Amino acid sequence: MNSMVEFYQPQADFGTPSSKSTELVTLSIDGRDVAVPAGTSVMRAAFEAGIKVPKLCATDTLESFGSCRVCLVEIEGRRGYPSSCTTPVEAGMTVTTQSDQLAKIRRGVMELYISDHPLDCLTCPTNGDCELQSTAGEVGLRDVRYGFAGENHTQLEKDESSPYFTFDSSKCIVCSRCVRACEETQGTFALTISGRGFDSRVSVGPETNFLESDCVSCGACVAACPTATLTENSIIESGIPEHSVTTTCAYCGVGCGFKAEMRGQEVIRMTPWKDGKANEGHACVKGRFAFGYATHKDRMTEPMIRDSIDDPWKRVSWDEALTFAASRLRSIQEKYGTKSIGAISSSRCTNEEVWLVQKMVRTGFGNNNVDTCARVCHSPTGYGLKQTLGESAGTQDFASVADADVIVVMGANPTEAHPVFGSRLKKRLREGAHLIVIDPRRIEIVGAPHVRSDLHLPVRPGANVALLNAMAHTIVDEGLMDQRFVDSRCDKVAFSNWLTFIQQPENSPEAMEAHTGVHANDVRVAARIYATGGNAAIYYGLGVTEHSQGSTTVMAIANLAMLTGNIGRRGVGVNPLRGQNNVQGSCDMGSFPHELPGYRPVSDDAVRGSFEAAWGVTLDPEPGHRIPNMFEEALSGAFKGLYCQGEDIAQSDPNTQHVEAALESMECLIVQDIFLNETAKFAHVFLPGSSFLEKDGTFTNAERRISRVRKAMEPLAGKADWQSTLGLAQALGCDWDYESPEEIMREISALTPTFAGVTYEKIERLGSIQWPCWDEESEGTPTMHEESFTRGLGQFIVTEYVPTDERCSRRFPLIMTTGRILSQYNVGAQTRRTENSAWHEEDVLEIHPEDAQERGISEGDWVGISSRMGDTVLHARLSKRVRPGVVYTTFHHPVSGANVITTDSSDWATNCPEYKVTAVQVTRVTQPSDWQERQKTFDVKQQRLAKDSVVG
Ligand code: SF4
Ligand code: SF4
Ligand code: SF4
Ligand code: FES
Repeated sequence: MNSMVEFYQPQADFGTPSSKSTELVTLSIDGRDVAVPAGTSVMRAAFEAGIKVPKLCATDTLESFGSCRVCLVEIEGRRGYPSSCTTPVEAGMTVTTQSDQLAKIRRGVMELYISDHPLDCLTCPTNGDCELQSTAGEVGLRDVRYGFAGENHTQLEKDESSPYFTFDSSKCIVCSRCVRACEETQGTFALTISGRGFDSRVSVGPETNFLESDCVSCGACVAACPTATLTENSIIESGIPEHSVTTTCAYCGVGCGFKAEMRGQEVIRMTPWKDGKANEGHACVKGRFAFGYATHKDRMTEPMIRDSIDDPWKRVSWDEALTFAASRLRSIQEKYGTKSIGAISSSRCTNEEVWLVQKMVRTGFGNNNVDTCARVCHSPTGYGLKQTLGESAGTQDFASVADADVIVVMGANPTEAHPVFGSRLKKRLREGAHLIVIDPRRIEIVGAPHVRSDLHLPVRPGANVALLNAMAHTIVDEGLMDQRFVDSRCDKVAFSNWLTFIQQPENSPEAMEAHTGVHANDVRVAARIYATGGNAAIYYGLGVTEHSQGSTTVMAIANLAMLTGNIGRRGVGVNPLRGQNNVQGSCDMGSFPHELPGYRPVSDDAVRGSFEAAWGVTLDPEPGHRIPNMFEEALSGAFKGLYCQGEDIAQSDPNTQHVEAALESMECLIVQDIFLNETAKFAHVFLPGSSFLEKDGTFTNAERRISRVRKAMEPLAGKADWQSTLGLAQALGCDWDYESPEEIMREISALTPTFAGVTYEKIERLGSIQWPCWDEESEGTPTMHEESFTRGLGQFIVTEYVPTDERCSRRFPLIMTTGRILSQYNVGAQTRRTENSAWHEEDVLEIHPEDAQERGISEGDWVGISSRMGDTVLHARLSKRVRPGVVYTTFHHPVSGANVITTDSSDWATNCPEYKVTAVQVTRVTQPSDWQERQKTFDVKQQRLAKDSVVG
């Protein structure tokens, strides 16, 4: 066992949150001198000194509440028995936590609780893992004088509506930990204590249940509950875990730390890791509960090969599959040339796995034809931030938002797509920070319980640059810029060019109004708040990058931050919210056709030379193909072989019919995935993948935080993904041998300056490391560009607004934009195979009631959506979240075909597809589209070919 695999035990709980104060206070507790930061509670000070005080309503993830009275202590010079959870330490205080009188009072309190509690401990699902039970033991309760026959709550009905947890009100002690967790930690306010006195009960509201209520199933209340009232169904079904493995969530780019709590090889529960710096003990419904896909019956566990996609699959050994794949790739190269094959690495896989894929392409394939799914999401972030600030990554850690006074959320929907960060954000907003939302759609935080944006700018899809230029124009025009910052930190010539550009009248909010659709005055107000409201931070997502001007938008954001001096300290910055768990890492690891690891040009002789020396090969100095070029070349007959690891390009890339035609033209498509995904249906070799639970390695989240992924169960297919890539490389003749991902990380550190000081040992010690980590001494970089920019002087770049070619017309009068929903994740391959489908069974088209009425469309109707690329059919949902003229859908189900209609228009700099702007017409229809019919037939055929697979 490595050091983060341990026998199961509840995570340590110090009773109240830690204090951030730097002032130390010394007091005496039970005769021991204890020094703690000012503001610490007596309870926490005692715990930190190793002295346990009984408690029920207190937990260190929540502010103290002081309702249960179990934690009373004696304090010299004070009357009565203050509760230790609500009493802050004072210098010279003398505290006694154990005395006969305290014991008597505590037993009396516990007696009252227990008299109204079912005495079914032996058969209770949390027997042995219940704070009520352990506290009763700690206070020495042996008898309940009141008996159990009086009026009580022990017969109350359970709420079993949630697929993931059960609410058994009969066991509730009304400590309010759940209610406070929902408010303070999650920010949803779904729970309340209804009734008074004896009738007080926890409730999700009248006439509703957990599933139907506002609850988003984050599990914070379940984690906070000290009794078996709120309990995971998996614990009810399987019992208490026996060991745990600390690892990192494999869903979104927040990168939450988790304890995978196990019983043998079975995951019983995923509990958010309190020491995880990205999440600090919180989670969302995906990471917390949607792990069942890892052992779903659809998991593919055997390698398969076939000559043509019309043949049944042959199930073969790993050796045979890898030899078959390698010989096919080599014969393609002999026939069509070295550059006729390539690979796509996965942002789902670990850094170490991605490293091997790009290394195999460069050394085994002999070209630079490697790209990654960041191409279709955050490649403009990499480009835009590198040009302006000098580093292709966000500038802050998540915790930085707690110091922001103004928060701009642009083209991102944090509460759906980055939920744990969304909760942090909401917390800061409840504390009073200003919020500006720039989004075509009225996302949740525009107006959520206890959170309201100061301004929502519903920018027309495609006009982001116009809006940001108008904000910058206002800041200059009204003299609100931070001249001192610009003078000292930025390139003067570049700034002067930019200043001339931005001052042009056509960049004013008034002139840009026709493009943005946003009232000029609102833009001016937003600019003033951003420039003058204190620490201002911008958080953005794919609504910024997935445009023909995605890179320009990122640069315009960086310009704004530099113009106002909002960069280089806590509470400010430019923060891309990354979609996939390891999209930052897959970019860092050199998955781009023009860059070696660490974002260094492949054309640079010195950079290439360092890799050539280490790898003992000569590398191609020419950049390779990006994903869209691979498709083009495939259709032209020059690109014939592709190794696609953990990405479902047939579903996720735009203009599906074009992608499918390219895949069909391949002579060797190797797909490595945990399921037979849409792309695998075009494959000749299928290599079964491993889930994050089955391997070791690291992920890098949106904060540049490198966290460990640790194996909790053996790979179902016998190999972790790094081992499969290693096998393929060896079959291609590469002279490699790695014993472990740690050995791969040693190579990464040796060849990538920003990772130079990263070791597994250091990650183990610190919990995680944010790169850059330049050397052995460094513990990483939470905030970037503090003294100077990575590139030296910050570079203002002229960001001229160029409207997209994708325009509305009489034939296609609406603009369709896309996004995600909380319960599903990307193409849905994982979440659709979990109970999360209880919340989102299908993708629907949101349409404004006015647009619907014009077309005779009612709620729930089938609607055909046609673009210049194709047609698909979805059910309609009438919604005022979108403005008239804009329709919106998610893309989590293959049958929806959202990408059948998206175009292949893309970002000018990086080819990131313009998913967010598609001109469409919407009409009422009665049947699925032709593509959907064809897709269904193809799917049935491919499922049958897989089912009829024979042993080879
Ligand atoms: S699961 Fe989360 S959202 Fe639902 S009630 Fe509990 S804390 Fe609130
Ligand atoms: S459900 Fe649990 S956390 Fe909530 S009040 Fe009851 S015992 Fe406390
Ligand atoms: S916020 Fe993201 S990383 Fe965290 S649990 Fe949810 S999906 Fe996983
Ligand atoms: S733990 Fe202090 S009053 Fe409940």
